[in-house]
Amino acid sequence: MAAEKGQKPALKRLYVETYGCQMNVYDSERMKDVLAPLGYTPTEDQSSADMVILNTCHIREKATEKVYSELGRLRERKAERAKEGMDTTIVVAGCVAQAEGEEIMARAPVVDLVVGPQAYHKLPELIAKAARAKGERLAADFDAEAKFDSLPEPKAEGVTAFLSVQEGCDKFCTFCVVPYTRGAEFSRPVDAIVAEARSLVRQGVREITLLGQNVNAFHGTGPDGKDWSLAQLLGHLAKIDRLDRLRYATSHPNEMTDDLIALHGEEEKLMPYLHLPVQTGSDRVLKAMNRKHTAERFLAIIDKIRKARPDIAVSSDFIVGFPGERDQDFEDTLKLVRATGFASAFSFKYSRRPGTPAAEMMAQIPEDVKDARLQALQAVLRDQQNAFNQSQIGRTLPVLVERPGRRPGQSQGRSPYMQAVHFESHRPDLIGEIVPVTICAASLNSLTAEAA
Ligand code: SAH
Ligand code: SF4
Ligand code: F3S
Repeated sequence: MAAEKGQKPALKRLYVETYGCQMNVYDSERMKDVLAPLGYTPTEDQSSADMVILNTCHIREKATEKVYSELGRLRERKAERAKEGMDTTIVVAGCVAQAEGEEIMARAPVVDLVVGPQAYHKLPELIAKAARAKGERLAADFDAEAKFDSLPEPKAEGVTAFLSVQEGCDKFCTFCVVPYTRGAEFSRPVDAIVAEARSLVRQGVREITLLGQNVNAFHGTGPDGKDWSLAQLLGHLAKIDRLDRLRYATSHPNEMTDDLIALHGEEEKLMPYLHLPVQTGSDRVLKAMNRKHTAERFLAIIDKIRKARPDIAVSSDFIVGFPGERDQDFEDTLKLVRATGFASAFSFKYSRRPGTPAAEMMAQIPEDVKDARLQALQAVLRDQQNAFNQSQIGRTLPVLVERPGRRPGQSQGRSPYMQAVHFESHRPDLIGEIVPVTICAASLNSLTAEAA
């Protein structure tokens, strides 16, 4: 299956299904890039695919279970295609692959190859091997540096792009699988990041979101041989011509350093949007989660950043029903939410993850209590999101146009605050331009505007 040098590989169709976070979205694109030289062309049509990659997420039980139900469907498809003499290679990648590789091979013999997030650069070799020894489980090690060094230059799709700068996590929050699925923290060297950013910009990208599980813990080696902070990296990238917008995700409160906060007030290319997961407003629960900060500390960070950049849109993640969470703890979460005023947020019911300390804690919370708390929290967060969107009505905002809108003649893009914005333009050529529009209506998930 692997192409010999100089020999043109046969054309094959590749379908990649992505679950989970933005890191996985980035990784899926890189897997497509690395398989292109083997003749694999991406397709949107799973039924015609010669290879299906499931890029999986392990963060909550539901995410993991999705993979197994999808593998059930794929088993049928593979059998149908086999009847017509066509082979289908099934690959499980991502965090479930890393955490449950053995179990996947045991539960789903349809899988040809299991590959963890740090081994994507080895995919061509692994695929060749798997073809020879069907069903073999192949190693997934934690060599993040080798991965980045040997992946080909990314192909840009559209005017916005993700760029992974940091991987892994050493924080070991007691509920979370990421330190086990993604390994220890690792930052890419600055030069490699700059080269990738320049390449994306040459391909028409106007906005880059730097990615990492804890992106503000970035400490990559700079061209001067010293460790650079995320703020230094952002400041450096901001000098690239035609790279108009910078974002970063996801951040940890403990790494919200003064230089990064200050940069929000100084660097115009850095968008006024901050995703800063807090999980809960209860100090008791924060402690049990091993988050190593208090609610007060989080509020102080928000204060500071609003002083630097008063209009910043703040977003967060919340978990309700962590083991031992009492009514009073949940009230403390609502209190923190009301005190902050979020522009958007994600909230989840605590999901017990095998192998994590919280899974072993006594006092697991009953499902109906989690449900009630989630609904109560989401009602408040929804009101805040609505209020934030409504507050934009009448303002003129620069929108980076990403694609045609849903209706003919419309354009669609994002505000500096990450809101989706639609407006009448009758100008298909606006894609990639930043245009001022006046917001005339707002709903929970988008804004409607008129060209200003
Ligand atoms: N590194 C990031 C995000 C990690 S995963 C951070 O530290 O913020 C994204 C979100 O999933 C987390 O912020 C958390 O809210 C949620 N999450 C993680 N583990 C979970 C679990 N066991 N149950 C429910 N939600 C979880
Ligand atoms: Fe998970 Fe905590 Fe690391 Fe975020 S900081 S990835 S929640 S362990
Ligand atoms: Fe899921 Fe792995 Fe991301 S567990 S959230 S895909 S780091």
